[in-house]
Amino acid sequence: MATKILVTDDISQAGLDILSGLEGAEVVVRTNLTPDELKEAIADADALVVRSQTRVTRDVIDSANKLKVIGRAGVGVDNIDLEAATRRGILVINAPDGNTIAAAEHTFAMMISLARHIPAAHRDLLEGNWNRKKWVGVELRGKTLAVLGMGRIGTEVAKRAKAFGMTVLGYDPFLTEERAQSLGVKRCDLDTAIREADFITVHTPLTKETHHMIDAGRIAQMKEGVRLVNCARGGIIDEMALAEALQAGRVAGAAIDVFEQEPLPIDHPLRRCPNVVLTPHLGASTVEAQENVAIQVAEEIVHVLRDDTFEHAVNLPSLSQRQKERLAPYLALAEQLGLFAAQLAQGAPSSMTVRYAGDASDPDGGYLTRTVLKGFFSFQYDGEVNYVNAFRYAEDAGLRVQEVRESRGRIYTNEIEISVATDNGTHRVTGTVLGEYGPRIVELDGYPIDTPIQGILIYTRHEDRPGMIGRIGTLLGDRDINIAGMQVGRRETGGEAVMLLSVDKSVPQDVIDEIAKHPGIRLVRAIEL
Ligand code: NAD
Ligand code: MLT
Repeated sequence: MATKILVTDDISQAGLDILSGLEGAEVVVRTNLTPDELKEAIADADALVVRSQTRVTRDVIDSANKLKVIGRAGVGVDNIDLEAATRRGILVINAPDGNTIAAAEHTFAMMISLARHIPAAHRDLLEGNWNRKKWVGVELRGKTLAVLGMGRIGTEVAKRAKAFGMTVLGYDPFLTEERAQSLGVKRCDLDTAIREADFITVHTPLTKETHHMIDAGRIAQMKEGVRLVNCARGGIIDEMALAEALQAGRVAGAAIDVFEQEPLPIDHPLRRCPNVVLTPHLGASTVEAQENVAIQVAEEIVHVLRDDTFEHAVNLPSLSQRQKERLAPYLALAEQLGLFAAQLAQGAPSSMTVRYAGDASDPDGGYLTRTVLKGFFSFQYDGEVNYVNAFRYAEDAGLRVQEVRESRGRIYTNEIEISVATDNGTHRVTGTVLGEYGPRIVELDGYPIDTPIQGILIYTRHEDRPGMIGRIGTLLGDRDINIAGMQVGRRETGGEAVMLLSVDKSVPQDVIDEIAKHPGIRLVRAIEL
């Protein structure tokens, strides 16, 4: 069956060509869909590509039966229900830097238009007037510009403002003093930026923290005659408070590209305000930017669908090819250990500690732990758990997950150990990757063992006395279950011993129950990997 890539907003042809180049792909472009049409179209899609117009709601995501990836040709992903996508294990990727320059240049165009009344003077002239006195503006040189959000676009705006002779204040929790100095920007807190600026421009994402970051209270703290610019996201500035301040003359002007509701309602108060420059979300609308983002997102979609390395995942840490190669052997071990631990632990798990040691302990953005959880929850939810939603499964199960990293392994050069606490007690399994021998279990509930972590296994804990192993062997023989390998371990003679048998076929539950009934057997588990 063809891989269906559904494109529901206009993207540049260069992007569509890349998508069509994927072997076996069928690219379906359907724009301006109603929510119901979108739900029907997405039902059999493997990938969805959108810009900012398509609302990818929970309802839409729940209508998708085999969707692997949603690609956003642009930066902001606020039109996509990330939480719903993550829960369903659907990867969300964006094209974060293809439109940075377009957005920074638009911000500057808006700021200058505002300072020099260009749109109003133009309109006035078209109406037959020649009002040179009416449209006297202000210069940027010597003014203070506050940039709220010093990410990609904020930084480009700051650089351009410096060239115009402005003093630039930068507010961003992630802006370091060193970076600010290298850009010639004064790092400050939000209150200082708000109080001291002649121009304020916002370049943050829209989040709970940034929603109405500029409201009536903040506007009241600003200099009389301040000018505001928003080319980031509608809702960062409270539009009603802004409209009132513009009408009152407290704010001398505002240049706005993005709105809380788009398209901007016909009766919106901003449409009637003096000294506003309004554009219909044009920040990224250049030929170059649209081509950049379309190419970037299309290439990423193709990589995801081909199972190659991708860079710009929004709901998953990205791995470089080098990191992926380095982690590859540990990914296999981590997943098998997770699956092993799920069958070993039984009972409701309340906490899990994953210890990484030696070569396995390099920081990886939580990738190995995602893999452990993928293995762990796959036992119960086969086929539903993946890297994207593995932590969600843990959260939903109330499983507290902790990572411990040690620079040296206790015995091996690399070790991954999972301890799971359940209402039935705590179990622990440790594994290592042993060169060409691959992933192996090397410790089980504190007992040394050495066996490949694969196939069908029977694990017992029993009294260390003669005849125990023989009896289990006979029972399996009677049921035609061939033993392919055996590992035993104990700490002292006559205490408790463990045994890990590898067998050639699945062990029915009644055989496990029968082993469990033998006097001296303390625990028995069948484990399939
Ligand atoms: P970015 O992620 O590079 O930068 C955002 C910055 O905001 C980061 O440095 C972050 O630390 C900072 N930030 C987050 N929360 C903050 C807070 N509470 N206070 C201060 N700073 C905070 O993103 P970007 O590519 O620069 O894009 C910025 C915004 O512009 C986004 O909202 C994006 O959607 C929007 N955008 C709009 C257009 C358009 O067409 N108008 C085009 C491109 C991007
Ligand atoms: C973005 O976040 O990239 C912009 O809003 C641009 C867009 O979607 O057109």
